[in-house]
Amino acid sequence: MNSFMAWIEKRLPFMDAMNKHAIQYPAPKNFNFWYVFGILATVVLVNQILTGVWLTMNYEPSGDGAFASVEYIMRDVDYGWLLRYMHSTGASAFFIVIYLHMFRGVMYGSYQKPRELLWIFGMLIYLVLMAEAFMGYLLPWGNMSYWGAQVIISLFGAIPGIGEDLTIWIKGDYVISGATLNRFFALHVIALPLVLVILVFLHILALHEVGSNNPDGSDIKKPKGSMKPEELSKFTFHEQYTKKYDIVDAIPFHPYYTVKDLVAVVIFLILFSWVMFFFPEGGGYFLEPPNFTPANGLKTPEHIAPVWYFGPFYTVLRVIPDKLLGMIAMFAAIGMLFALPWFDRGVVRSFRYRSKLHLLNLTQFAICFVALGVLGTMPASDLANLIGRLATLGYFGFFVFLWFYSKGEKTKPVPERVTG
Ligand code: HEM
Repeated sequence: MNSFMAWIEKRLPFMDAMNKHAIQYPAPKNFNFWYVFGILATVVLVNQILTGVWLTMNYEPSGDGAFASVEYIMRDVDYGWLLRYMHSTGASAFFIVIYLHMFRGVMYGSYQKPRELLWIFGMLIYLVLMAEAFMGYLLPWGNMSYWGAQVIISLFGAIPGIGEDLTIWIKGDYVISGATLNRFFALHVIALPLVLVILVFLHILALHEVGSNNPDGSDIKKPKGSMKPEELSKFTFHEQYTKKYDIVDAIPFHPYYTVKDLVAVVIFLILFSWVMFFFPEGGGYFLEPPNFTPANGLKTPEHIAPVWYFGPFYTVLRVIPDKLLGMIAMFAAIGMLFALPWFDRGVVRSFRYRSKLHLLNLTQFAICFVALGVLGTMPASDLANLIGRLATLGYFGFFVFLWFYSKGEKTKPVPERVTG
C-alpha cells in the first residue's frame, strides 16, 4: 500500500472494512441458487434509487400536473420511457426478489438464533418497502392510484375514536388531493429511501456479525475456546473476528461468490430487460389499465385491486367481513412474520433435517401465500371468499402449528460438515 493509502487507512480503515464485509468475508461453500436474491435485491434497490432521481427531474408533484408530467416523461423526455419502465418494472421485480429471499430464510431457518435481529431488520425493510411502493403508486395520479390509496387510507377510519381524524391527518385534506400527493412524494423520494438504505446497511452488518447460514442450517463457525480474552484483545477487531473461531467449510466471498453472483445478476438483467422492453405493463399486473386515465374522484374503477405484491395481505383484509377485524388480521399477518423466530422453538434450522410435519406445514404455507396473492388481484366472489378464508387459516395456522410441534420435534442429525 502506498503511503497515502496507509495514511487514510490509519484514520479510516476502509480496506479493513472491505476485507471484513466483502473480499475476505468467510461464506459457506455450499450456497445454492437461493442465495443470490440478497445481491439481486441490492441491484434492484440501486436501480430504483437511480431511475427515481432521474424521473424526479421531470415529474411534477401536484394534482394538476402529475399525470401530464408522467405522459411528458413517456413521450418527450429523451429516454424518459426507459427510465419510467425501469422504475415501474423494478418495483415488481423488487417484490419477486424479496419474496424469494424471505422464503429462502424460512426454508433454511435463517431467522433462528443467532440471526433473529438480522431477520427483524429484514422485516423492517419489508415494511418500509411496502410503504414506499404504496406511496409511489399514488404519484402517477392515475385513476387506480387514486382509488387504491382511497381504499387503503379509509381503512384507518375503522379505528374506534381516532379513525376519522387519522385519515384526515394522513391525507392532509378531507379528500385525497394534491396535498396528499405532495406529502407522499416527499416521503417516497426522500424519507423512506433514506430509511431503506440505512436498514439495508444494518441488515448486512447484523448478518456479518453472526455469519451466513447455509442450506444445511449447520454452524460453520466453531468457537476455538482455547484463547483467553487477554490473548484475544491483542488482535484488531477484524483479526479477532477471524481468529476467535475455527471457520470450517467457508470460502472467501471474493472471487468465489463475486463471480457466482455476477452470473445471477446477468441472467436477472436479461429477464428484467425482456419484461421492460416487451412486456412493461406485465399483462396489467405491473401497470394496471385504469392508471392510463387521470385520477377522478367521481369515477370509481370497476374493480379496485392493489398491485399484485400487496395481494396476500389485501385478501386477508377482504375475506373478513368486519372492517376493523379485517384490518387487525391484515397487520397481524405481517406481525406473525416479525415474530417467526419465536414461534419456531426448534433447534434444527434447515427443512432438510426437520420432520415430515414441518415440510408439510412449510408447503401448505407457501401454497396458501400464493393463493392469497392470486385472489388479491381477482374480483371478490363467494368462491373466492371461501378459498381466501381457507388460505387465511392456512397462513396463520403455519405459525400456530409450528409453535406446537417445533418444541419436541423429531429431527434428523445435522451433518458436522456441509453437504453439497
Ligand atoms: C432491500 C431489501 C434487502 C436487501 C438489499 C437484502 C440484502 C441481503 C444480502 C446481500 C444478504 C446476504 C446474501 C444472501 O444471503 O442472499 C442477505 C441475507 C439475509 N436476508 Fe436480506 N435483504 C433485503 C431484505 C430482506 C428481508 C425483507 C428479509 C426477511 C424478512 C431478509 C432476510 C435475510 C436473512 C434471514 C438473511 C440471511 C440468510 C442466510 O444467511 O441464510 N432480507 N440480505
